[in-house]
Amino acid sequence: MSKTLGIGVIGCGNISAAYMRLAPLFTGIEMRACADLNADAAKTRAEEYGLRAETIDGLLAADDIDIVVNLTVPNAHFAVSKQVLEAGKHVYSEKPFVLSLQEGLDLKAIADARGLRVGSAPDTFMGGAHQLARHLVDAGAVGRIASGTCFVQSPGMEMWHPNPDFFFQPGGGPILDLGPYYISNLVQLLGPVARVTALSSSASEYRTITSQPRNGEKIKVETPTTIHAVMQFVSGAQVTYCASWDVWEHGHSNMELYGTTGTLHVPDPNFFGGEVRMTEKSAFVNPSVEWDHPFSKANDAGRANYRCAGLADMAQAILEGRPHRCSNDFALHVVDVMTAILHSGDTKTLVELSSTCDRPEALTPDAATALLA
Ligand SMILES: NC(=O)c1ccc[n+]([C@@H]2O[C@H](COP(=O)([O-])OP(=O)(O)OC[C@H]3O[C@@H](n4cnc5c(N)ncnc54)[C@H](O)[C@@H]3O)[C@@H](O)[C@H]2O)c1
Repeated sequence: MSKTLGIGVIGCGNISAAYMRLAPLFTGIEMRACADLNADAAKTRAEEYGLRAETIDGLLAADDIDIVVNLTVPNAHFAVSKQVLEAGKHVYSEKPFVLSLQEGLDLKAIADARGLRVGSAPDTFMGGAHQLARHLVDAGAVGRIASGTCFVQSPGMEMWHPNPDFFFQPGGGPILDLGPYYISNLVQLLGPVARVTALSSSASEYRTITSQPRNGEKIKVETPTTIHAVMQFVSGAQVTYCASWDVWEHGHSNMELYGTTGTLHVPDPNFFGGEVRMTEKSAFVNPSVEWDHPFSKANDAGRANYRCAGLADMAQAILEGRPHRCSNDFALHVVDVMTAILHSGDTKTLVELSSTCDRPEALTPDAATALLA
């Protein structure tokens, strides 16, 4: 690829360091500038990673920025992404993409009218492990997937994040915060969801921060922290999904998919790597495929971490005039599934989804290699 697209970041908090550290792994993108409501946060990251600190208006007006990566907090995602599109630039957002189907449709209308791209994390489904699972599902290695279970349960977020408030406000909670990883992976594996039902609750009214520097401060819980949902996919598969920040310990696997001839154990969709295990009937067997995928290889503190892969794929897709994998329609459907789960929990009803999407194209080992510098 001969051309490189200039990348600017809005939102220089916790996760921005990973984007800035990992962007140089990829071809077709160059991290150039960053901005934040808090000018000191932008200045700090700019100094750490050799970028230009800008005001938000300055970044949106900069001629050398083609794609803006929106790393603000969830309840600012829509407004910031809209501002980026209205400034004539492509936008790639951290998850959750937006907080309602309508917000996503509004962004799509603006982007389509201006010929701009919208993309959203997560891109962990592009990891080597999840692409192996995709290969096995598509090859019928365990037959037709009829059902499955997913569990993402922990004691919470207030023990590690320095500013954990947003996790417990509308827009946070384990469905909107962690659901994007699980539901994106399920949709890339099984296709779109047709309907959902769920029950939701919160074990505590307040949470006490135990991370620094706000150790001891209390946060009011304003969104459910335990949600048990069932999703029925258009394919007919039905998957139980339990997401909670009220659980100290449990013994469930992250994701298991039950096919008509065997079972697939899929590793944590919050990460790119991990071990995919499969059975033929009830006996564990090695998948009969050579799988040397670059996004399985440990590259960052002992883990496979290819954050920016979705951004690099979007940049390459813009340059090549092809669809990108972390697409507007895909992210929008995932938001629709998550907000339908929350709505079902609130109203104790079955919710039929109004959106759908195509599965993102599989990322073969060769296609992943072509994204790397
Ligand atoms: N921290 C993680 O490990 C992690 C991992 C994956 C995804 N994410 C997602 O990334 C996003 C950011 O998370 P974080 O942990 O970096 O949060 P953070 O609170 O550490 O940082 C957010 C930054 O955005 C800035 N900001 C907020 N509103 C803004 C606005 N309107 N305009 C400009 N700047 C604004 C804040 O000043 C802050 O510096 C969230 O959506 C989160 O779900 C975080």
